[in-house]
Amino acid sequence: MAQVELRGVTKVYGATAAVQDVHLEARDGEFLTILGPSGCGKTTTLRIIAGLLDPDGGEVLLDGRPVHHLPAHRRETAMVFQSYALFPHMTVEENVAFGLRMRRVPEEERRVRVEEALRMVELSGLGGRYPRALSGGQQQRVAVARAVVTRPKVLLFDEPLSNLDAKLRERLRLELRALQQRLRVTTIYVTHDQAEALVLSDRIVVMHRGRVVEVGTPQDVYRRPRARVTAEFLGVANLIPATVAGGEGARYVADTAIGRLEVACADRLAQGDAVTLSFRPEDIRIGPGPVNCLSGAVQQAAYLGSITDYVIRVNDVLLRVQEPGEPARGVGETVSLVLPAAPAVIREP
Ligand SMILES: Nc1ncnc2c1ncn2[C@@H]1O[C@H](COP(=O)(O)OP(=O)(O)OP(=O)(O)O)[C@@H](O)[C@H]1O
Ligand SMILES: [Mg+2]
Repeated sequence: MAQVELRGVTKVYGATAAVQDVHLEARDGEFLTILGPSGCGKTTTLRIIAGLLDPDGGEVLLDGRPVHHLPAHRRETAMVFQSYALFPHMTVEENVAFGLRMRRVPEEERRVRVEEALRMVELSGLGGRYPRALSGGQQQRVAVARAVVTRPKVLLFDEPLSNLDAKLRERLRLELRALQQRLRVTTIYVTHDQAEALVLSDRIVVMHRGRVVEVGTPQDVYRRPRARVTAEFLGVANLIPATVAGGEGARYVADTAIGRLEVACADRLAQGDAVTLSFRPEDIRIGPGPVNCLSGAVQQAAYLGSITDYVIRVNDVLLRVQEPGEPARGVGETVSLVLPAAPAVIREP
């Protein structure tokens, strides 16, 4: 059982608050990701949880108990850094064994646990090498083995894959997820990579300018963002300012720069409300349709292999539209578009 909670955590540097009144909770066994742009306070938050940094206000609780008086090594957390931070003068085995030696684990048990940890990250047989004789991906696996070998209650990751090439990153993130599921250890993972966050997480905490903007499952934050910055940060979104013109129950009409649209929305809206409608490019269809059908001109068509990514101008608005397969429309062509009747409705103008 390991649950982490932050209550009103704040960290100020000079005139700027790196982290401001952050509340969040990682449930027992959960994979929680903190996602946000560079400088939004992710590393600061993680270091406060690890005990590497003292907050100026607020509380960190582990299993319901405040831990502010506990130094980093007594918090039963283990951290994996972006830069690996391996000891260069120690072999792989010695690196992984380090935390066990600090905890005075007897040599025989140490040997067994190091071997087990190296097997977990598929590095059996490389225990005698030095970090400089390993690839970046292998070094990061050593860092993961070094973190899990102490059997921490909470694993903390700070952008551990960002120094690796795209293919390796994709493979390692699947491995990390599988390992976390096997160990069922509460994990808090920091990244600015939205794909990584979607693949790995049970829930995602979106941060912006030192604050938590929203928390939800990958589907929540991608399909039903509540904040404009969430829609902007996760993938591509066509964000259309709209004014509610009428409607009731769950069906409304809204006026926008691309015309009057029908909008299904479970939340209650009132006439005159200024909102933002978010349409994902893969939800817009090229072709005729009975509702929310618009006419536009193709400005660009980029072939990306599995999809074609179009820029289509409707009035003065440029829409991103994605279709599977090869380009079927040419630049300059006039096309019909159908917008989905259930976009994400963000209650910000
Ligand atoms: N020791 C420090 N002194 C002064 N300002 C700091 C310090 N550490 C962090 N900051 C500032 O606090 C803010 C948050 O920094 P933090 O490192 O937490 O961001 P981050 O979300 O991890 O960014 P990145 O994705 O680039 O790693 C930034 O504006 C940063 O410049
Ligand atoms: Mg950081």
